[in-house]
Amino acid sequence: MKTSQLTAKVLTGFLKFKAGRPKPLFASYNVTGRCNMRCVFCEWWKNDIPELPTKKALAAIDAVCRLGVPFFDLSGGEPLLRKDLIVLAKRVASHGCLVSMNTNGTLLNESRVSEVADIFDTVVVSLDGPKEIHDRIRGVAGTYDKAVEAIRLLKAHGVRVAVNSVATPWNIDILPQFIEELRSLVDFAQVQPMHPYPPSPENTPSNEQVSRLLDYLLKLKRSDPSFLAVPTEFIKGFEQFFKGKAPRICHAGELYIAINPEGKLLACPARSDLVLGDAVSGSVDDALKKRDSEGWHKVSSCRGCWLECTVGVSMFLKNPLKEASQLVGLWSSRKN
Ligand SMILES: C[S@@+](CC[C@H](N)C(=O)[O-])C[C@H]1O[C@@H](n2cnc3c(N)ncnc32)[C@H](O)[C@@H]1O
Repeated sequence: MKTSQLTAKVLTGFLKFKAGRPKPLFASYNVTGRCNMRCVFCEWWKNDIPELPTKKALAAIDAVCRLGVPFFDLSGGEPLLRKDLIVLAKRVASHGCLVSMNTNGTLLNESRVSEVADIFDTVVVSLDGPKEIHDRIRGVAGTYDKAVEAIRLLKAHGVRVAVNSVATPWNIDILPQFIEELRSLVDFAQVQPMHPYPPSPENTPSNEQVSRLLDYLLKLKRSDPSFLAVPTEFIKGFEQFFKGKAPRICHAGELYIAINPEGKLLACPARSDLVLGDAVSGSVDDALKKRDSEGWHKVSSCRGCWLECTVGVSMFLKNPLKEASQLVGLWSSRKN
């Protein structure tokens, strides 16, 4: 897609947001609930959620893309477990969306990388620390090596590659050094605190540990702003998040929406119970406008979160004109 077309889409979204008529800027489709990892902080692999067959998955993509969403992410579960992933990604791209994927990287090999590289603008690979820590968090030995190999293959094929790291009590001390090492490996990095929110005591690092991480991240953000692809205010908020005092910043169903593996339209990617409607058979427009559904009531009573795909997106909107071109530049690799 043309960068100018994408920028226009983002700016239209910004202007509508300013005019009090927000429309989604970011959509996340969890194409499958299946996963080959056993991450300590993740629920996906514990549940058995049915997924849509290709035809219905394409219908869900069409319905959401017609809203004019500029950024569309395919995630899961592990999206590379779906054999038709490329077909789905191509459909997203045909709507003029920037198409990205979140993956653990373990299923990406020489034979699969070309087709992935041909269609995805950006691939975000999960890496939570050096080998031993990453493999322990992911619950499967050998995961780190495969993820790093996936990054190498993607880069060799010209894809923009990012890393997403989750800050937990088990990796927080090593994260500064680890992220420093990533700078020569990937195009940009995202860091977000481990959810759910508010965190339980066993999921909460000490105040000193959080401060040390923030000192490093804020320095990095000042010296290399486009490498650390989360807003400064987002980083500062980690402190309140881990104290259970994060402000509620929420534009669920307005600036971001999600589709679950079954094709339900969710208000946001953070909570699977915020069902607003059905992306395959229902009217997505109506689901977003009619605020009397149970899903919308749950949105109002949500205590909030601190994820880059929700709060991070909301924060980017604080400075729309500056952020539009930065956002597009950061996420789009080529295809102009
Ligand atoms: C749910 S995974 C799905 C995509 C893919 N399987 C992967 O591992 O990247 C998407 C991202 O969410 C992160 N994630 C999972 N559980 C989380 C949690 N409890 N808190 C914060 N991030 C989490 C993962 O580390 C990953 O970067």
